[in-house]
Amino acid sequence: MEKKILVTRRYPETGIRLLEQENFHLTFWEKEKPMTQDELIKQAKTHDALLCTLTDKIDSHFFNECSHLDIISQFAVGYDNIDIASATRLGIPIGFTPDAMSEATADIAFGLMIAVARKMFFLHKTIINGQWGYFNPTGNLGIELKHKTLGIFGLGRIGIKMAQRCKNAYEMNILYHNRTPSKTAEKLLDATYVEFEDLLSQSDVLSVHCALTPETKDIFNQRAFKRMKPSALFINTARGPIHHEKDLICAIRVGDIWGAGLDVTNPEPMQPDNPLLFMENVCVLPHVGSGTQEARNQMSVLAAMNIIEFYKKGHLPHIVNPEVLES
Ligand code: DGY
Repeated sequence: MEKKILVTRRYPETGIRLLEQENFHLTFWEKEKPMTQDELIKQAKTHDALLCTLTDKIDSHFFNECSHLDIISQFAVGYDNIDIASATRLGIPIGFTPDAMSEATADIAFGLMIAVARKMFFLHKTIINGQWGYFNPTGNLGIELKHKTLGIFGLGRIGIKMAQRCKNAYEMNILYHNRTPSKTAEKLLDATYVEFEDLLSQSDVLSVHCALTPETKDIFNQRAFKRMKPSALFINTARGPIHHEKDLICAIRVGDIWGAGLDVTNPEPMQPDNPLLFMENVCVLPHVGSGTQEARNQMSVLAAMNIIEFYKKGHLPHIVNPEVLES
């Protein structure tokens, strides 16, 4: 195929090979650093399609400059970096890669929950700092998870996997809050739908799995943390701006909640002197939820197939704005 695709990063070969087999003309951004928006626009102007990811800023300014694109294929399940309304207005289909990373991300949420409950990252640092003293019967005590209540904010594909892990490992009671209750998920997990306020006040572990939208931005703020149990663990593997970072730091310092496990921060990357990194009951990872060979290979395949099927058959297996193809 004659089409020119701008590939904004070295994505796994699984998908790239598929595109090469179809003879697309691929241009790779080879630098370690993501493209600036100016670089992205300059390059995209001479291409027909874009294979991009969450750090590429595809906002209204981008679309003003690059309204000619046939398709944008996002290598991620989240697409809050893309102005979907502008893309839809211009008739540009946006592909994404749902479910490829559900197991991997649920593992990170589950792992962070245990790590926070037992202060694992902090205790690891005490060894490095030469502070492994004698057995202390009352020192560094964590909390157990058996029969505790898990609150899921955003019970979708990843939230369901997290709930299953917690149910199977610790027989946890599952509460959730979504825009609309999901009868299927309730049946699968014996989960109970609750209002947001009840999710806050009843959860022992509150795990965030929703998309970042204007409604969810900063929803976990001082007011929300004050409604939570002082013994609660807050876990966010979705998007950093869903929690208000200063309010989270304050909530842990004053004891409004017990601790936090974060795979996402705001901004990313987190600065190495961030106070969260020095707190006993906090574990932070550098946005690696989908970071397994299996997940990334599958994401690459799904992102490539969105482009291939669009050009060959006029549809995308995984599309964010299907209305652009219906019209
Ligand atoms: C996603 O897919 O949205 C993750 O955050 C990155 O893999």
